[in-house]
Amino acid sequence: MAQIQWFPGHMAKAKREINERMKWIDIVIELVDARAPYSSKNPMFNDIIKQKPRLIVLTKKDMADDIKTNQWQQYYESLGYSTISVNLKNFNEYQKIIEKCRVVLKEKMEKEQARGLKPRAIRAIVMGIPNVGKSTFINKLANRKATITGNKPGVTKSQQIIRVAKDFELFDTPGVLWPKFEDIHIARNIALIGSIKQDILPLDELFIYAIEYITRNYPDLLRERFRLEVDLEDDWVLKCFDHIARVRKIKPLRGETDYDRVIELLFSEIYDGSIGRVTWEDLSCVKD
Ligand code: G4P
Repeated sequence: MAQIQWFPGHMAKAKREINERMKWIDIVIELVDARAPYSSKNPMFNDIIKQKPRLIVLTKKDMADDIKTNQWQQYYESLGYSTISVNLKNFNEYQKIIEKCRVVLKEKMEKEQARGLKPRAIRAIVMGIPNVGKSTFINKLANRKATITGNKPGVTKSQQIIRVAKDFELFDTPGVLWPKFEDIHIARNIALIGSIKQDILPLDELFIYAIEYITRNYPDLLRERFRLEVDLEDDWVLKCFDHIARVRKIKPLRGETDYDRVIELLFSEIYDGSIGRVTWEDLSCVKD
């Protein structure tokens, strides 16, 4: 783990900023990546968010394993959170998130009105580690209906608020938190979903890990994508490199397989999802 660091300075700043906003908001929309719903969830969120209502949104469900996505949703719901899984690239899917927030807060808003308070908009903030879809979500909302309201009590000038619907307001800047590299599994997973630069880890090790994981969990993908049957024995790693290079016609370098190009190719197919649907963790990784 020597090469892996996380960023206590950034984290402290993010924590301060989010704390300031927390007074203002009714609900935290916490985005996690459906391909690694545990590793992409910063445990420090709990300290920051405390008892605020929270909706956990598993993004990129189109790139993840549906069965595992369901299991993760059930797990988080068993902990008392509301959850939803989405493909933010779908035309109107982000609307489901708004609708779900309304459902989560229905009782609270009704109680306020029963106490004689004026009906008001729900106030929300989006949070998550890098690359989980925060800007995609906010931009879709903002492009559709960007009424910047700004300057509200408890909201500093630099923080802009978008009125997304008559009954819904959102900070236009998300709370960015950095992933916490608690252990090598988490570090690998967030590298594989592109939330940290993958070269924070030795790339050849990450390649071996990825191929081995896919072989054990989704062997059909390697067959379909690379006509690759991996037998995890002896010199399987070199055979994989050579095979992928051959199938994808990667030019040899000084007479040898160009390992760097093979690694680059595999990771690019993992990142853009062309490898197929992979979820990098199941419930067995949960620590109490
Ligand atoms: P961030 O603000 O949390 O850092 O994440 P951002 O919205 O920039 O999203 C990171 C990448 O993930 C973007 O791809 C975005 O399009 C993609 N993305 C977000 N949500 C989903 C989803 O539900 N499904 C899929 N398939 N992709 C999603 P990019 O390659 O960086 O940009 P581009 O493809 O939009 O040009």
